[in-house]
Amino acid sequence: MTISDDALLAEQIAYYRARAFEYDRVYAERAGLRELMSEFDGLPIAGDVLELACGTGQWTGAPAARARSVTAVDSAPEVLGIARERAGSPNVEFVRADVFARRPELRRDTVFFAFWLSHVPASRLGEFWETVAAALAPHGRAVFVAEGAEHALEGVTSEVRSLDDGRGYRIVKIYHEPSALTGELAALGWSADVGQLGDFIVGVAEPPTPR
Ligand SMILES: C[S@@+](CC[C@H](N)C(=O)[O-])C[C@H]1O[C@@H](n2cnc3c(N)ncnc32)[C@H](O)[C@@H]1O
Repeated sequence: MTISDDALLAEQIAYYRARAFEYDRVYAERAGLRELMSEFDGLPIAGDVLELACGTGQWTGAPAARARSVTAVDSAPEVLGIARERAGSPNVEFVRADVFARRPELRRDTVFFAFWLSHVPASRLGEFWETVAAALAPHGRAVFVAEGAEHALEGVTSEVRSLDDGRGYRIVKIYHEPSALTGELAALGWSADVGQLGDFIVGVAEPPTPR
């Protein structure tokens, strides 16, 4: 059975809502993730920051510590509750929103997203990067981390994930390889520097101008 991207995106939202209280386990279990987080200070994140798909706020405290403001968006109220507990601060606002349904009204210096890009279907990638560009001030940059390409499987665009109680959900999963992603971004007018760091990719991208 084929499943439409709209149906996949809806199931993906439901999955992360249901998984909220299991989600943080991966950060406790994967040493590589903690090493990746220790690289955060080297990333060019400053000013007013929009964090997309912030999840339980594992990353949110890091930009909040050095940015003027952070607006952290996620579609799951359950993870936002955990994120507020973890990373609540006077300069952080948490907002429940669907990345694909809402155009940001304000322009930020940085749009940051961790472990989100692989959840964007190919059919929505152009629209997604347009949304990011629309959210950036003229000098602004997108900064992202994601799972790396060594997990890439030719032609695989979704996965079934299971919760502890056995419920299964199909989600979008597209692993990006640095040079291919750099090329895809260039085709959309972006100038990107995407590198591999252990199992992960780290990218800094400047949007097309003028916009
Ligand atoms: C893999 S988690 C990443 C969370 C966090 N950035 C991190 O690195 O720990 C993906 C997140 O995307 C959120 N999400 C899924 N679909 C979304 C959508 N359409 N709009 C906004 N957030 C969405 C989920 O609720 C989940 O918190």
